[in-house]
Amino acid sequence: MDNHIKNQCTIFVLFGACGDLSARLIVPALFNLYQDEKLPENLLLLAVDREDIEIPELVDRFRRSIAERSDSRDDVRWQHFASMFAYLQADVTQIESFHRIAERLSEQEKTWDAAAQRIFYMATPPGLFSPIALGLGAAGLAASQDQARIVVEKPLGRDLKSFQEINEALTTHFDETQIFRIDHFLGKETVQNILALRFANSIFEPIWNRRYIDHVAITVAETLGVERRGPYYERAGALRDMVQNHLLQLLCLVAMEPPVAYDADDIRSKKLDVLRAIRPIPSDRVHEFAARGQYGTGWISGSKATEYRHEADVDPHSNTETFAALKLLIDNWRWQDVPFYLRTGKRMAAAVSEISIRFQDVPHHSFPASVGLNSQPARLVIQIQPEEGIVLKFMAKEPGSTLRLRLVDMRFSYQQTFNARTPGAYETLLWDVMSGDPTLFMRSDQVEAAWKLIMPILDVWSDNPAPDFPNYSAGSWGPASAEVLAARDGKSWLTPTLRPDTDEH
Ligand code: BG6
Repeated sequence: MDNHIKNQCTIFVLFGACGDLSARLIVPALFNLYQDEKLPENLLLLAVDREDIEIPELVDRFRRSIAERSDSRDDVRWQHFASMFAYLQADVTQIESFHRIAERLSEQEKTWDAAAQRIFYMATPPGLFSPIALGLGAAGLAASQDQARIVVEKPLGRDLKSFQEINEALTTHFDETQIFRIDHFLGKETVQNILALRFANSIFEPIWNRRYIDHVAITVAETLGVERRGPYYERAGALRDMVQNHLLQLLCLVAMEPPVAYDADDIRSKKLDVLRAIRPIPSDRVHEFAARGQYGTGWISGSKATEYRHEADVDPHSNTETFAALKLLIDNWRWQDVPFYLRTGKRMAAAVSEISIRFQDVPHHSFPASVGLNSQPARLVIQIQPEEGIVLKFMAKEPGSTLRLRLVDMRFSYQQTFNARTPGAYETLLWDVMSGDPTLFMRSDQVEAAWKLIMPILDVWSDNPAPDFPNYSAGSWGPASAEVLAARDGKSWLTPTLRPDTDEH
């Protein structure tokens, strides 16, 4: 596969090249791939934007952005990487721009005397997805299924209807096999490893079901606030920003049936089956299945954090949720009646993403009650970030003549085991786009099913502004209503397994 990519002449067209996403994530990931010698030998990085800017200035911007994030100071390598960029100033709402792009691509192919693979990456505001997809098609740039690919990233709409509109524009000229929809969580090593854990070991699958698992809790907590993204976040909120995509993808990986083969469509179909089996949430019962929150002031790592409503570009009476929690039930043989609790929030107590699988309690307690006072059912924790690993928590006897039981950890850590740099999610995903592997990308039916699932919650929340916002302090684990969501079932959110030295049992 590596050689195939290296020998393939490639033109990577970066729409929105002057924007934040390009400088912060896309170009640094391309540079890392370049440093790892994974990029094609004949590569043109065609930056496209409306700004009147010369290539040295744009490249310098990229350089500064990379320097802020890494200590790599290899000027020679940078100069060579930078020499692959060209800039084309264009207004993508004008069809004539796409003809100019097409001309530029043909010129390059003439220079190489070879047909190139063409990748169109939309690092633009979502309002431009449709005009770009349609413009590319109108200029004949979508025509070859093997050669042309288009890459988009969320937000893919604000609701089911707007998603369908974007999708219609994408699929007018491009075939589904040419469309790569990024959910960057799927590019994370720890997320990809969920399939390996489940399906490359025979010991987990027999107990991975309703007979042994009591409930599953997925937490994606951030300590960051909305930073400079107020205008976007005000229209998004935690449910659209995180749950509709990242958290539901994690749930699918935990709950899906084994694929027949490690094959893009098989895996994605199995994930879709999970989404289709999730019990729909009736509008009049949203409060039983979902909780929302918005952060007030509070303390994070010794610094005072301002409340959401005082952040830049945020409405002082905002009804946008910065925290969302959901209880989902999957109606199938494997998972009937096993609750899946999902929560995510900004400005929470710790930056930690993990999946906790809580096994059922032993059917009979043989030890005297005093011995098992702290007894807890075993749980398996898949640590996604910042710790990367897997922890099995189970009861053990403390050494000594007095019989005492305690919860202990068996840990696998990526860092200790592999001692290698973990590639960033965007590196993995960009490389997969170049090699044409869609396994880690979202198919349109998945995205649509995810929108359908959360629509009742979105509607009820927007029609009924939260009377209690802000309802959690920055630096906490979210609002009380999220605790109630689990407590109503006699369950609780499982305390995230923080760093080994700060872990609480
Ligand atoms: C993005 C969201 O998709 O994911 C952000 O828009 C969030 O709000 C980010 O901060 C989290 O991703 P990561 O990889 O930093 O955990």
